[in-house]
Amino acid sequence: MRIPLIAGNWKMFKTKAEALAFAEELKVLYKGTDVQAAICAPFTNLEALVEAFRGTGVKVGAQNVHFAEEGAYTGEISAAMLEEIGVDFCIVGHSERRQYFAETDETVNKKLKKLFAGSIRPILCVGESLEQRDAGKAFDIVKEQLAADLGGIDAECVKKLVIAYEPIWAIGTGRTATPEQAEEMCAFIRSTLIAMYDEDTADEVIIQYGGSVKPANATEIMNMDEIDGALVGGASLKAEDFMEIIDF
Ligand code: 13P
Repeated sequence: MRIPLIAGNWKMFKTKAEALAFAEELKVLYKGTDVQAAICAPFTNLEALVEAFRGTGVKVGAQNVHFAEEGAYTGEISAAMLEEIGVDFCIVGHSERRQYFAETDETVNKKLKKLFAGSIRPILCVGESLEQRDAGKAFDIVKEQLAADLGGIDAECVKKLVIAYEPIWAIGTGRTATPEQAEEMCAFIRSTLIAMYDEDTADEVIIQYGGSVKPANATEIMNMDEIDGALVGGASLKAEDFMEIIDF
């Protein structure tokens, strides 16, 4: 049985003081549900959030990691550094990193391997651009991303994977994929995993939808059979909105 995962992706928002104020608000609202909640925050907030959410059931995630064990990589953060402070999840391959920071399927693949060597669960983002969708290539693009991103990663690791289907045209645009479009792609992702691995493995993978998820549309998205959660950007910045989504 997959437990739904609602994760906030704060992107480059919130100072430490703002993050702690959010945590205090969410702690009052969050009573624990059948849904796993997590906040993926900027690096500078992670340690404080792990402390603030201790004992509440709310997990903490990073938004990026380097694939090397350690080394001369100015400005980067390693998986061991994140593990040491108690981080549970790490987003890998978000479209904003692919677009602005030269993230490729090759670096995504290396990062996933590094995380799977430790205890942090990756949230792998895949998704097509508007141009690719309009050209009828959305399914091919996502299939190619999965093949490249998961190359050489075995089934035991994949069982711990979270995949977020984030169509680029729906991120921060207010233009949500319809629940049917999201469902169709999440089902396609699972059938691709069955082909790449096997049914038991694919069954364990949490598949989220991300892109303009907000309180007003969370219920219809989360009620789709093939959608196991959401990766929420803008609407995760306010504790009340995020809580409404968790409570879909
Ligand atoms: P929005 O919810 O702001 O569209 O962002 C989605 C996203 O990129 C989550 O990773």
